[in-house]
Amino acid sequence: MSEPGAQDVFPPGFFAREDERTDATFYGPPRLVTHIDDGAVAAVSDLYAELAVDGSSGEPRRVLDLMSSWISHLRVAPSELVVLGMNAAELEANPQATERVVADLNADPRLTFPDASFDAVLCCVSVDYLVRPVEVLREAARVLRPGAPLVLTFSNRCFPTKVVAGWLYADEDGRCAIAATYVRLAGGFGEPEISLRTPAHRYRGDPLYAVVARRL
Ligand SMILES: C[S@@+](CC[C@H](N)C(=O)[O-])C[C@H]1O[C@@H](n2cnc3c(N)ncnc32)[C@H](O)[C@@H]1O
Repeated sequence: MSEPGAQDVFPPGFFAREDERTDATFYGPPRLVTHIDDGAVAAVSDLYAELAVDGSSGEPRRVLDLMSSWISHLRVAPSELVVLGMNAAELEANPQATERVVADLNADPRLTFPDASFDAVLCCVSVDYLVRPVEVLREAARVLRPGAPLVLTFSNRCFPTKVVAGWLYADEDGRCAIAATYVRLAGGFGEPEISLRTPAHRYRGDPLYAVVARRL
């Protein structure tokens, strides 16, 4: 019997979106904005620093930022930063990038990079837009070196017409569980760790959650 995939775990309609037009239509115009507030951005940068995926150690690091834009939230640029997203102008404006790839992961979830060629794979506030997330994360596992982290971060803001229905209608705990399930189904990773990276009480800013797993 084959291992369970997303179709065996998530109900029919889970990956439907209100806007089913090709993603190239929606992401055609560049959006040179920040999608989360300053506190949430700082939480992402802190996490990357803690995991030593940025360039602060001075060690060579080849990092892949999936579903990227003009900003990758790394305090110090790694020696190599490959940014992959839908909009060429956004990626061109990313000052830390050393390589830019325009690709639609919903049309084709395969990554064009060799096996075990990255020290980290990042995906910030974007995993909710994937209609084949398990296949994309299986590819992330393939391109990561053993022990290297996959870092998924997300908040509660989104482009609602492009987010998959199952995510859109889940609460915040549910979204953490969904992201962790994607990672488990992808295979090749240790148990994902879920954390809330912004304060839990009396906090008025955008929450920032992380799901981190290391390549086996
Ligand atoms: C909310 S923005 C987040 C951008 C960036 N990661 C950040 O932290 O600001 C969502 C990003 O996902 C990318 N994206 C959306 N659908 C995609 C797809 N099908 N394939 C690849 N990238 C996609 C878009 O290019 C867009 O920049």
